[in-house]
Amino acid sequence: MKKSSIQIFAIIISFLQISFAQEKKTYLPKIEPCPCAFKADSSLNTRCAYLIVPENRKKPAGKTIKLPFIVVESNNPQKKKDPVLFTGGGPGGSSLGIVRSVHRRSLIKNRDFIAFEQRGTQYALPNLGGNEIGEALKTAFRNNLPKDSMIVAGVKRLRERLTAQSIDLSAYNTVESAADIEDLRLALKIDSLNLYGISYSGGLMMTVLHNFPTGIRSLILDSPLPEFINIDEEEVGNFNEALNTIFQKCQNDSLCRIKYGNLKEKFRNYFNGLEGKTFSVAYLEKETGNTLNINYSRSELIGVLENTLYDFSKIKDIPDIITEMINGNHEVYAKKFIDDIFHNQGPSGMRMSVYCSDKMAYAKDNMIKQQYKIYPYMAGAGYYLNDVYRSMCDCWKVPPIAPETKMAFYSTVPVLLGAGDTDPACRPIYNDLIHHYMPNSQRLLFLNRSHGPLIRQDGDGFIEKFLNNPYGKIVSDKSDIIAY
Ligand SMILES: *[C@@H]1O[C@H](CO)[C@@H](O)[C@H](O)[C@H]1NC(C)=O
Ligand SMILES: *[C@@H]1O[C@H](CO)[C@@H](O)[C@H](O)[C@H]1NC(C)=O
Ligand SMILES: *[C@@H]1O[C@H](CO)[C@@H](O)[C@H](O)[C@H]1NC(C)=O
Repeated sequence: MKKSSIQIFAIIISFLQISFAQEKKTYLPKIEPCPCAFKADSSLNTRCAYLIVPENRKKPAGKTIKLPFIVVESNNPQKKKDPVLFTGGGPGGSSLGIVRSVHRRSLIKNRDFIAFEQRGTQYALPNLGGNEIGEALKTAFRNNLPKDSMIVAGVKRLRERLTAQSIDLSAYNTVESAADIEDLRLALKIDSLNLYGISYSGGLMMTVLHNFPTGIRSLILDSPLPEFINIDEEEVGNFNEALNTIFQKCQNDSLCRIKYGNLKEKFRNYFNGLEGKTFSVAYLEKETGNTLNINYSRSELIGVLENTLYDFSKIKDIPDIITEMINGNHEVYAKKFIDDIFHNQGPSGMRMSVYCSDKMAYAKDNMIKQQYKIYPYMAGAGYYLNDVYRSMCDCWKVPPIAPETKMAFYSTVPVLLGAGDTDPACRPIYNDLIHHYMPNSQRLLFLNRSHGPLIRQDGDGFIEKFLNNPYGKIVSDKSDIIAY
């Protein structure tokens, strides 16, 4: 061999080594047994452990984090080798509590079930929880102070505390969480996995499929928020679409129509008329026993309706609640809303990091504002349907996630999609969009229900059929659940 070709060969080899090194993981995910935060019913065997991975995969030799997961074993001796892996919504919610109800779920009949705690959430080490933002909001309510500036101060305090603990806030995002799930799959030597996500984690599970398609058998997505949706540009429209669905149903129902009249128009007239108005209520703070005079306005009343939309058992009361508000009887609702504020921690650092890097970083202010032209009663007054918004993210300062994550992608993997027709957050249209990109998906529309209908009892039979035969046609014999 001539010297020059040896040199070329050496150069090729070194290129190969470089590209191989880039492909290869520079860290080894570890598994370490740990106590169980929750156990499944005693009829089932439960195992608990941590997945240990780098906090930031761009710094693979850096600090590691511990993410607990719970494996519940199916009792079926002929069980399938493809477990179901579940993770919860939020972002920022814990995912482990679901194991307490697994014995009642049909998915445990034929498969093991894994609940996985996302990085930064309650049982993860570290967890990015904290009540700084919630406390700031409470103080603002207690003293009738401007909420926005108080909240931004709370955001700063939370950020300072977490960064002082050397937490890398830029590492808590959907890309890293998706890589965590893939690392867990590999560490547990699972060849084929069914991913089950709700709300935010619907988008997370789609990202796992997008970034690591190997080994994914199927997806079950309940009220998913796809990564390609910039929710801040849509939430005002989504909320009003959910309300309009209720108004339309009332209009369609002769008894409801007679009782409440043209509710849509009444609602709009009343809420438009509240512009600039302030009310005051004597509120007993249970913890301290102090009675506070708390001011509220249109914003809090919209908040009441938003909270009610999430409560399946109360959706039917919305025509009544709006009518009561219009009649001036809103104190009782305002108090309930303030109760909720006083019992809420506010967004965690994990929620802040995910929302800011993943959603807000891509949301266009121009689009956000356009919504208020259509729904002027939602503007001003400083009400945000979401508890994370622009000025908070400006202060949180995390970089945007990789733009590829925000892109739609095609896949032939079978997917079961659930949505509620009165969901104020993740509208059924998101499932229609996902279906466009994932033609082997099937949709279930739950009437008179909102966020997360599939994970409840009514969805169980559909999940069972889907897991047993993901390509089989899903049919519904219930008049209030439409399969399409
Ligand atoms: C109201 O009735 C119309 C006409 O029957 C129907 O097309 C529409 O879907 C109904 N709306 C709702 C929200 O049920
Ligand atoms: C609170 O509301 C009362 C009217 O109910 C009003 O007089 C007062 O100025 C309000 N205070 C603040 C700080 O907005
Ligand atoms: C949904 O709720 C409305 C209003 O409460 C009611 O009239 C209607 O019958 C319900 N529809 C179904 C399919 O249950």
